[in-house]
Order: sequence, then C-alpha cells, then structure tokens
Amino acid sequence: MKTSNSSHYLLTSTVSKLFNAQLHFFHFLTYILVLAFGVTIGIISSFYLQNCSFSLNFTQLSLSALPRTPPLPPPIAKQEVLLLNLNHTHVALKEFLKPPSVMHDMDDEELLWRASMSAKIPEYPFDRVPKVAFMFLTRGPVFMAPLWEKFFKGHEGYYSVYVHSNPSYNGSHPESPVFHGRRIPSKEVQWGKVNMIEAERRLLANALLDFSNQRFVLLSESCIPLFNFSTVYSYLINSTQNYVMAYDEPSAVGRGRYNFQMLPEITLKQWRKGSQWFEMCRDLALEVVSDRKYFPLFQEYCKGSCYADEHYLPTFVSIKFWEGNSNRSLTWVDWSRGGPHPAKFLRSEVTVEVLQRMRSGRCLYNENSTRACFMFARKFLPSTLSRLLKIAPMVMHF
Ligand SMILES: *[C@@H]1O[C@H](CO)[C@@H](O)[C@H](O)[C@H]1NC(C)=O
Ligand SMILES: *[C@@H]1O[C@H](CO)[C@@H](O)[C@H](O)[C@H]1NC(C)=O
Ligand SMILES: *[C@@H]1O[C@H](CO)[C@@H](O)[C@H](O)[C@H]1NC(C)=O
Ligand SMILES: *[C@@H]1O[C@H](CO)[C@@H](O)[C@H](O)[C@H]1NC(C)=O
Ligand SMILES: *[C@@H]1O[C@H](CO)[C@@H](O)[C@H](O)[C@H]1NC(C)=O
Ligand SMILES: *[C@@H]1O[C@H](CO)[C@@H](O)[C@H](O)[C@H]1NC(C)=O
Repeated sequence: MKTSNSSHYLLTSTVSKLFNAQLHFFHFLTYILVLAFGVTIGIISSFYLQNCSFSLNFTQLSLSALPRTPPLPPPIAKQEVLLLNLNHTHVALKEFLKPPSVMHDMDDEELLWRASMSAKIPEYPFDRVPKVAFMFLTRGPVFMAPLWEKFFKGHEGYYSVYVHSNPSYNGSHPESPVFHGRRIPSKEVQWGKVNMIEAERRLLANALLDFSNQRFVLLSESCIPLFNFSTVYSYLINSTQNYVMAYDEPSAVGRGRYNFQMLPEITLKQWRKGSQWFEMCRDLALEVVSDRKYFPLFQEYCKGSCYADEHYLPTFVSIKFWEGNSNRSLTWVDWSRGGPHPAKFLRSEVTVEVLQRMRSGRCLYNENSTRACFMFARKFLPSTLSRLLKIAPMVMHF
C-alpha cells in the first residue's frame, strides 16, 4: 500500500511539478508579449513624435519666412466703446431713419456713396407715409416761393424741399418757411455744362437720404405748379412710370452731338435727347446716383456744344430703364417760338385761358388716357408772381 502510496505521491508531485513548469512558461510568455507590445508602442510613438516635431519645425520655418506685420489698431477707439456702452436704448430705428441735416459736410463722393444704399427687404417695418421731394435747381432765390407756400400749405409731412443754388448767391434774400434751411451744399453750375448734372445728382442724393421720399421732381425758380397739392401728390405717388423725356432726334442738335468715343458703352442708336426737368421714383433715383458707367463718359466726352443736361438722363434711362419710362416730361414748356431757350412768360401773358390750356391735353397715365399731362410749367418771370397768386385759387384750386 505504501509503495502505491509513495508512487502515488511521486506521481502527484511529478504532475504538480510539470504543472508548475507550465505555469512558469505561461508567465514567461505573457512577460515576453507585454515586453514586445511595449517596445512596439515605444518605437511607433517615437516615430510619430519625430514626425510631429519635424512638421512643427516646418511651420515655425514658414511663419518666420512671412513678412512681419505691425499689430492691427483696435477697430473702435476706446472712447467710442465707452459711449456705446453708456446707453443702449438710443440706437433705435427712429434714430436711423432720421435724415441728416440738409447742410451736412459730406463731399460729393461721400454723399453719393451714402445715398446709393437701399434696403434689400422691400417691406417697411414701420408706418411709412411716402413723400414727394421737390428739388429746386436755381441760380439765386426761389422767387416763386410765395406761390409754392400756398401750394404746400396744410400738407406738411407729405413733401420735402431741397434747394441747390449757385454758391455765389449769398442768400440775403428773405427765405419763406417752406424753403428756410433747405439749401443743400452746392457748387457752381453753368448752363449746358456737365456740372448741371452733378448738381442734379447732388439734389437726388440729398433727397434719397430721407427714407420717406418716394418720388423726386426737379424744378427751377421759374417753375410753377399747375394743380393743387392733393392732385399732384396722388398723380405722382400712384404713378407706375417715370417721367424722363427721351426721344431720338436725327438732326445736328440731336444725333449731331453724339461722340463716337463713347463706344462701345453708348452707340449712336442709343443716343437720346430730352428736357432735363424730370420726375422719377425712388428706384430710378438710386440708379442715377449710383451710375458709374455712363456718367463718367458724359463727363469725359460730352463737353461744349454737347449739352449734357439734355442727353445724359434721356440716354441713360433709355438704355437701362426704358421699360418704366413714359418718355415724356411733366413740366410744360413753350418751344413754339424757336431758338435754344424756351419762351418766357411775361406778366401780361399770364391768363386763366393760358393756364387752363396747360392743364388739359391728352396723354397716357398708367396705360390709361388722361387729360392731365403736365403737373408743372416754366418759364415764368418774377413779374408774373402777383398775377399768379391772384389766379391760382380760381384755376389751380389752391
Ligand atoms: C438712455 O437714453 C434714453 C433716450 O435718449 C433716456 O431716456 C434714458 O434715460 C437713457 N438712459 C441712461 C441710463 O442714460
Ligand atoms: C449779397 O448781399 C449784398 C448785401 O447784403 C447785396 O448787395 C448783394 O447784391 C448780394 N449778392 C448777391 C449775388 O446776391
Ligand atoms: C384740387 O383740385 C382738384 C381738381 O384738380 C379738385 O377736384 C379738388 O377739389 C382740389 N382739392 C382741394 C383741396 O381744393
Ligand atoms: C391711388 O389710387 C388708389 C386707387 O385709385 C386710391 O385709392 C388711392 O387713394 C390713391 N393714392 C393716392 C396717394 O392718391
Ligand atoms: C420709350 O422709348 C423707348 C425707346 O427709347 C421705347 O422702347 C419705349 O417703348 C418707349 N416707351 C413709351 C411708353 O413710349
Ligand atoms: C384704367 O382705367 C380703368 C377704368 O377707369 C381702370 O379699371 C384700370 O384700373 C385703369 N388702369 C390702370 C393701369 O390704372
């Protein structure tokens, strides 16, 4: 039994030894595996690190290759930031909509740039009463002012007035309430010169700064209204068209003034003539102040006997915006006596019949026939004023 016992012992001890050896072998294998794994990780990571430091070196290199730039100045001066932080409530829409003072100190370039801006959203988020901008291009005082005062009376909020007069005019003439403080920064204007259009663009730009202005009419000191304010206002505000006179004049005083150096932007076929006394909507006014393609050509090539004021707007509008244009003027004028200037009205020539004739014709208005072709008329001498004041209530209802 003992031997069997001992043999059994021997057997179990051998088995356990064998088992132990196997266990050692497993430990060893695990150890080797862990070691191999560690070494592999080490090799890989060292490789990556090398790569990384290489690319770091590279960026450092390329950065140092760039020219050194001075630090940027802060976008807003410190004091302005302080002012903005003091009161947030004062930057309201109302402030933004308020037109700047008519007598600002913007130069033409600044003014046209600012005026050329328009809202991309067509609906107004506030109650907007559309106004008509009456723009007077004059040499001196608006001598018809007393008549215009009567015309505007009681319609405040539906119109705005702008006056561009010769800088040499010293303004000593007493200004009536409607015209008081409505002179815009003006420059020298000569008859038939391109600086006349510069003045018209200056007037349009100033009027565009008021978001309420919807229609824009150019007038002179010798112009008079032919209807009362409510009639003129609804005629203009409800109109679907612009009133820039434009026609093709084959003679020397039309096509004869064309300059071939305006090619290829303006061809002889596109050249138009018309009275400078326009009436237009806000969209077209924006296009006129923003035009940087056609106007420079007129500045360059329409000098001397070209008479830019009779050709720039008719040509520009006929090329690009003919669709909305009626091609006629709203300002009545008498060319029947011939010559380069229209007839002037003397005191004795101002009668009820003459005015009635100007007020009735046959025209198209919004594609319909109308008897009211003209809203304004020229040229009335200062001496006609007292007579007009007397006739106005009878004929014009104001
Ligand atoms: C901010 O401005 C508004 C209007 O101009 C004024 O009523 C208000 O008192 C001002 N608030 C402060 C804190 O200055
Ligand atoms: C300027 O004013 C003076 C006096 O105030 C006047 O005599 C002169 O005629 C005026 N000049 C013009 C161009 O209006
Ligand atoms: C304005 O003139 C029109 C005719 O053109 C007339 O029917 C209307 O009554 C006048 N309005 C006023 C307020 O006088
Ligand atoms: C425009 O025309 C419409 C319809 O004829 C009229 O109701 C409206 O009062 C007119 N607007 C103005 C400003 O006259
Ligand atoms: C105005 O003139 C242009 C040509 O310059 C023409 O295409 C257009 O039909 C005219 N518009 C009207 C209303 O007569
Ligand atoms: C033309 O007149 C008719 C009838 O008076 C009117 O129904 C139509 O709306 C008018 N057309 C335009 C474009 O004003």
